[in-house]
Parts: sequence; structure tokens; C-alpha cells
Amino acid sequence: MTVNLDHPMPDGAHLRPQTNARRTALDLSGVWLVRLGDRDWSRGLPGGIPVGVPGSWNDQLPGARDDLGPAWYERRFEAPPLTARQEAAIRFGSACYAAEAWLNGRRLGGHEGGHLPFALDCTDALRAGENVLVVRVVGQIGRDRVPPGLVPSEHTHGRVFHPDVPFDFFPYAGLHRRVELVVTPRDGIRDLRLRTTGAPDGAVLEVAAETSGEGALTLALDGQPVTPPHHVAWDDLWSPASPRLHTLTAELHQRGELADRYVLRCGIRTVEVSGQELHLNGRPIQLRGFGRHEDFPVLGRGAHPALATRDLLLMRQLGANSFRTAHYPCDEETLDIADQLGLLVIAETPAVGLYFDGQDLPRRQELALRFLAELVARDRNRASVIAWSVANEPRMNHPAAAAMLGELCDSARALDGTRPVGYATDLPDAAGLESADIIFLNSYPGWYRHPGRLDEAASALGGTLDRLGRSWRKPVVLTEFGADAIPGGHADPPAMWTEEYQEALLERLLEEAGRHENVVGTHIWAFADFATAQADHRPLSLNFKGVFTRDRRPKLAARRLAELWAGRAVEEVLHRERRRAERDRLRPEPAELDRRPGERVPQRVAPGGLADRRQQPAAEQQASPAAQDDPLRAEQVDQVADADA
Ligand code: GCU
Repeated sequence: MTVNLDHPMPDGAHLRPQTNARRTALDLSGVWLVRLGDRDWSRGLPGGIPVGVPGSWNDQLPGARDDLGPAWYERRFEAPPLTARQEAAIRFGSACYAAEAWLNGRRLGGHEGGHLPFALDCTDALRAGENVLVVRVVGQIGRDRVPPGLVPSEHTHGRVFHPDVPFDFFPYAGLHRRVELVVTPRDGIRDLRLRTTGAPDGAVLEVAAETSGEGALTLALDGQPVTPPHHVAWDDLWSPASPRLHTLTAELHQRGELADRYVLRCGIRTVEVSGQELHLNGRPIQLRGFGRHEDFPVLGRGAHPALATRDLLLMRQLGANSFRTAHYPCDEETLDIADQLGLLVIAETPAVGLYFDGQDLPRRQELALRFLAELVARDRNRASVIAWSVANEPRMNHPAAAAMLGELCDSARALDGTRPVGYATDLPDAAGLESADIIFLNSYPGWYRHPGRLDEAASALGGTLDRLGRSWRKPVVLTEFGADAIPGGHADPPAMWTEEYQEALLERLLEEAGRHENVVGTHIWAFADFATAQADHRPLSLNFKGVFTRDRRPKLAARRLAELWAGRAVEEVLHRERRRAERDRLRPEPAELDRRPGERVPQRVAPGGLADRRQQPAAEQQASPAAQDDPLRAEQVDQVADADA
């Protein structure tokens, strides 16, 4: 099923639409019409049934679960006339897997790739008054796509799914995110790229702006004119403890008039790998969190702000500070919330289940590189996004595998040199990790290996982490580990598939991971149960490895994590304080050197005491550990309120 892709991405489309003095964004979400089938309905649908957008059609339309399209959507809307100095585009947050669009019968273009935005110019097609937008969406799977489908079994995990996908989530299809009519100045601001580098007492912000017209561009940060490179003080940096957001305003003036304006809410922070540590704002940080799918009953993969808010606040409530967007880029509003709540995000491309064989390999590699470029273009200004994951569990049983993964890693570094890069692997001994800055390890001791045996599972994990530590001087994030727990399933002693077993295994493996200096993060698989294709090991076509059920009710493990992670946060602070005090004890006290006679010596506390914090800004220790991670505490709410002000 082909899609013509002659207008993949006009300029500036990755600037999020906004409405201001010079720009408008008309949200076309709501109830559309849809028809499954494939006749040429580009001029309008003869009939059709209602469907909600954003949303997958699979769980909305009775009987359409396994129908991967094509589906034709129609939306009628009124639009004000454009002036000669304006242009218009229809922007899709996500059309999965590929789409073409027509406005008033005129073809606007198409896009391939289900999880990233695209905008199609419609300046000439747009009419004042009623407009008819028609979109053809295909969800079919195939070897020439990313993620691929219909993959030869020697290039899969050996599990058989229906629909025939090599990955463990349902291949939902549809218009999964907002659709907007975007009106902008013809000669305006095309792009804004932020770059933050470390500085001894804070950071330096650089801004690269792209405009398509003449005129003078001015920048202001929180209302103050700035001329980058601009120094940002420590207290104004973004971190999980203090997710400070700033308002960057770019204005383009032409012939003394305001021609265009763009307002960006942004956090300023630095992130880097240092030896086997991951540093945020120059300080070691530990990631605690989950792999998270965008998945909910009825919505399917449809984005909804209430769902994203619920998930990320629950993460915060558990004491988590991080998640991976498994196995595809998440919705932009989810990242707005992550920026506000101070959550650290590993942003993953849709390259899950890659294999490096067959005639479609070059096309898959070209798509993987293009989706990576689109992801970086969309999320590069995000404080919450701290690393790129260029693939999940690629099959490494081919000589070309390591080089092609290397190409993806190098491409990510070339596109954005300010974040570490890696890919999630379940094959830690396979070649390829030389290309990664940070090792993302998926490992299932106690489930797929050593089933039911907790001790063996913990030591197996320990062995793998030690081996990685010996082979690579790189930090490791355990990006997946866990166990399926059917909600309400109980056993004493704990047995597989029960909540008790999941709780016990997670606690055991977290403990083990905590013993390894090279481990800088633990992401439990998964945040919540999610839909998969049909398979013999997937009862009810669900993966039950969530610590929350699919409708976000907590399992036993969620409660235990809240205790552990609140505890762990304290432990981490004390551990770091001990390490810092030790370092300080060895370093001569500067005050001693130039103390003037009679001047008071600043107060110092024995190693491990918490008082130090008052003297030294630290990446995560502004407030008491429990407080810093409970978003519902007053000051956090204030911070969020500040951010929204
Ligand atoms: C894999 C994979 C996940 C999957 C998980 C599981 O590691 O990356 O997508 O859901 O295992 O089997 O539960």
C-alpha cells in the first residue's frame, strides 16, 4: 500500500504552532468522519461514521481492531481569509503509520512515520469560509517500514504475534495527535535552536534563529533583552528539584513593524556523560523511573493531556524522576508536562525491532535516519529530554548491524552534540556498544531467564553489570526489567504472574543494580499495562508488566516503589553528600587562604551531614529529598504555578 511523499516537511514546521499577535493555530481535533477502505475519496467522503481525533480507530470503531486501513478521514472547518503576507499549513502531530492529505480536493502532500509531526502547506488550497480536509491514513505493516513488520522469524525474538509485528505492542493506526490549521507570516521566524553549555557558576545559553525574511530579530529572556551567548545563573537552571522554566521571546521586526513573534517556554540545563557517571548541571544524577507506552483503553495510541498529566504526576508521586518514551517519540504535551515537573526523558525514535538483512534494509536505514532527524528537530529545545535512544532491541545477528547502529548514533551526535546517545539492547555482549555514549540495557532475569528464581535472577543481573563495567567505561541505564503481574493475582509465597512476585523481583533487582557504580539509572518495564498484538504469551492481548494497570490503578509494586524510591532519594543525597564532603575534606578551605584577621570561618559539618547543602548548590538537593520529589507539595505546585505564570 503506497503513499506519495512529495511534501514531507516544509520549513519551520517543527516550531510548535502557537497563537499570538502574528500567528494563529486552529485546533481541528474533535469528531471527524471516517471510512475504512480504499477508494478515491479525496474530494470528500460519501457518508462515513464519527471518529474521535486524536485517537486510534482500532479501539473506537466496533470490529475494526485488526483493521490496519487505509482509512479516509474528513473534517470540515471554517477559516478566515489569509492576507498576502500570510501562509498556511495543516500540521499533524502524528498520523500512524503514513498519510496523504487533500484540502478542497487539492492534494497537499504526504508523510511517512507514525510518531512525529509534519505540516503540509495549504496556502493556495485554503478558502475563506468552509473547507473540506480529507486525510488517507495507512497503518499497514511491512518490511520496508520503521518499525518493520512481517519480519522473517530468524530476525525476531521468535515470538509469533497477530497482526504479524516483531514488537510487543499493538500496531494502532489513526490520527493520534492534534491536527491544526497553522497561519504564520510568509517571511517570518522559521526555527529557534537552543544550545546550553556548562559554566563554573551556571550555564551559557546560545540561540540560533532562522528567519526567511529580512529584518531585525530580537530576543528576550523572561522579558529582559538578551544577546546570546547569555550567562544563566545556577539558581535559574532547570533540574528535577527545581524545574525552572523561562520564557524566550523572539521578535522579527521589518520596516519598524512587528513581522513575527515566537514564544518558547524552556528550561536551561546541561547534561553529559563523565566517565561512568551521568551529570546534570555538572553533578552526578541517578535516573529512577519507567519505560512508558502511550496506550489507554479506547484511545489506543491517541494522545490526551489528562492521561499524560495523570501518568507523570503518578511517576512523581512514586519518587520517580525519569522515563523513556518506549518505543517511539511521545506526544509534545507530555514533554510540556515533563518540562514542568522536572522529569528526565530518554527520547526514543520509532526504530524498534530493526534487523539488518534483506532487500528493504537500505530503505529502513534511510527511514531510521530520517525519523531520528525529525525527532531531534522537534525535541532539541527540551530541558526534559536528556538523551537520545536511536533504536530498541535491534537484532544484531548480521555483520552490518554494528556499523548501521553506529551510523544512527553518529547521526544523532551530529544533529545534536549536547546530549548522550545510545540504543536499548537486550544483547549486551554483541558488537555495537562502542558507538554508544551510554548503555541502555534491557534485561529480564527472573522472568524470561531464571523464571521464579529471585536469587539467581539478582546474581545474573549483577554478573551482566559487572561484565559491562569491565568492558566499557560508560554509564549504564537499566532501561527494562520486570515481571508480568495480572491485577488481583496473588500468591504466598510469590509466584510468577502475581503482584507479589512482581514486587519482590523489582525490589531485588533494584537492590542489585544499586550496588553497581556504573549503573546511573533504573527504568522499570513498564509504567502501566498496555495492549499488544495477539500471542500465546500475551493473555487478553495485554502486557501485564505495568506497576499500574492499564486504567492506572496501582499494583502492589507501585506502593513498594514509593517506599523504596522515597528512601532511595534520601540515601542518594546522603551518599552524594558523603562523597562531596570527602572531596572537600581533601581540598584546602579557600576561606582559610585569604581570611582577614578576625573574620568568622564559615560553618562546616562532619561527612554525611545534610547541612552542607546550604553552602553548595547541587543538581537535586534544593529541598528535603521527600519534598523535592512530591509534586503535590505546596512549593512544587508554586513552581509549576510560576512556570505557568
Ligand atoms: C522487550 C521489549 C518490550 C517488551 C518487553 C516484554 O524487551 O523491548 O517492548 O514489551 O521486552 O517482553 O515485556
